[in-house]
Amino acid sequence: MISIGGEMRPEENNLDDWNQLFCHDLPSDPVPEIGTVLVTGASGYIGGRLVPELLARGYRVRIMVRSYLPEYEKQFPGCEVAVADAMKEKTLDAALEGVTAAYYLIHSLLLGPEKFARADREAASNFRRAAERQNVSRIIYLGGLGDVAARLSPHLRSRIEVAEELRSGEVEVTILRAAVIIGSGSASYEIIKNLVMKVPVFVLPRGARSRCQPISIRDVIKYLVGVLEVDKTSGRTFDIGGDEVMTYLEMLRKTASVLQKKRFFIQFQIFNISIYSYFVSLLTPVPGPITRCLLEGIKNDVVCREDSIKSYLDFPAIEFEEAILRALSREEQDRVRTRWSNAYPPSHELAMKLDELENEPEYSARYGISSEKSSEHLFRSLCRVGGAEGWFHNNWLWRIRGAIDRIFMGVGTSRGRRESASLGPHDVIDFWRVEKLERNSKMLLRAEMKLPGMAWLDFNIDDRGDTRRLTITAWYHTTSFFGKIYWYFFYPFHHFIFKGLIEQIEKRS
Ligand SMILES: NC(=O)c1ccc[n+]([C@@H]2O[C@H](COP(=O)([O-])OP(=O)(O)OC[C@H]3O[C@@H](n4cnc5c(N)ncnc54)[C@H](OP(=O)(O)O)[C@@H]3O)[C@@H](O)[C@H]2O)c1
Repeated sequence: MISIGGEMRPEENNLDDWNQLFCHDLPSDPVPEIGTVLVTGASGYIGGRLVPELLARGYRVRIMVRSYLPEYEKQFPGCEVAVADAMKEKTLDAALEGVTAAYYLIHSLLLGPEKFARADREAASNFRRAAERQNVSRIIYLGGLGDVAARLSPHLRSRIEVAEELRSGEVEVTILRAAVIIGSGSASYEIIKNLVMKVPVFVLPRGARSRCQPISIRDVIKYLVGVLEVDKTSGRTFDIGGDEVMTYLEMLRKTASVLQKKRFFIQFQIFNISIYSYFVSLLTPVPGPITRCLLEGIKNDVVCREDSIKSYLDFPAIEFEEAILRALSREEQDRVRTRWSNAYPPSHELAMKLDELENEPEYSARYGISSEKSSEHLFRSLCRVGGAEGWFHNNWLWRIRGAIDRIFMGVGTSRGRRESASLGPHDVIDFWRVEKLERNSKMLLRAEMKLPGMAWLDFNIDDRGDTRRLTITAWYHTTSFFGKIYWYFFYPFHHFIFKGLIEQIEKRS
């Protein structure tokens, strides 16, 4: 991560610094002598929080990611990075070579309702076979709660299928089953919070009377680390949850009370959950496909059927309201370490990078100004664009573009950003994603909104001795007729938007 705020962030400093580690009071003792521990899904929400805990407890950690970034070594100092894709079985052997225990935190929810279950099954099956070949001693998987005998939603069913797939091999598998995870950056938390914040009267499906046993992210991480340290948990399945069982309706009411909002909830028979989740997703930063997968599950009870994990790892659970308060406080402090948006959307890893194009994109528009301010100040200022601070100038135009994108099932601008004061490659900024970040000289953003082509925003700071040249270039590549019309239609707005933006970046630096 590159820190752009005045303060140092632990990624650059020391893992203990941030007071973000969760496992200080874990009853188990670290066993770093067990050998290499692999964490898959390290770029995701759970994996990104687990790795620092393992490193802080002295484990030799290897992370498995689909695309390598040098920043991982700064984010997770001392860990090895293996590049592998669980959909390509052959790539897994090198990642698993010499590994004693592997965390399986791979999830393809972003592929959307039609595709994720098949992808998750295939990935798990490839991983199981590769783990057998490489004589891995154990796999630890975090899946979902749900009664197998019930008519589970596709998402919950898929979590169970993955567990069964992993367990069907020779490697001992520990399965932790959790319901809704509450913590800053979690998709479920952001959906709940945004609905409560934005809608005074909210229509809920009747399924909202189902029971759920939410758990805080802290406790999930503690269980994940704890089972690694307690050998007797090998080959076992455990339900994990907080102490409270409540309906989804109660969760919303409790959140409203924490946020001190007077809210009314009406329950209604919802016949088409995909249309309902589409409208819900317009009110939250979470994209439609994820919202739908999660909402489909609210008809199912997701409650712990047993609590045998307590006999190995007994610690006081964080209450629901406290978990919400902690998440809000993290957001207020601008210290959200990982977020659901960390994982790429499906097209992301396939997305063409600007420097991978054979030729420079045929359409571009460039705006620049000279400044006497230092590159460092200019860079800090430009890295603050988007999210809660907006786009500094003509913000309403960006918001309209974001709203149009949401209507067409795009990601929109409401995704915001993980933190306003720090930024790393692959981070989301509204409907952009950071493709390249070079301290004090460059920020390249790739468009993830719905477009009839590919687009980038390229910010550059050129140090010319006495002055600095700050430029912004909008790149656009298309081959379709409609794509060309799109470019020329928006061309006049570019002048309006980008000129003002670049002037504001300079002014605010
Ligand atoms: N978050 C929750 O609220 C919650 C609740 C209960 C259970 N869980 C369980 O916890 C686990 C992790 O969830 P999460 O929220 O951390 O998910 P996430 O943020 O969506 O991350 C998923 C991870 O899987 C990786 N991945 C996807 N496809 C891959 C592939 N083919 N090869 C290699 N890596 C791949 C992604 O890497 P890329 O960055 O390369 O895409 C990403 O790091 C899941 O099993 C989930 O069911 C989560």
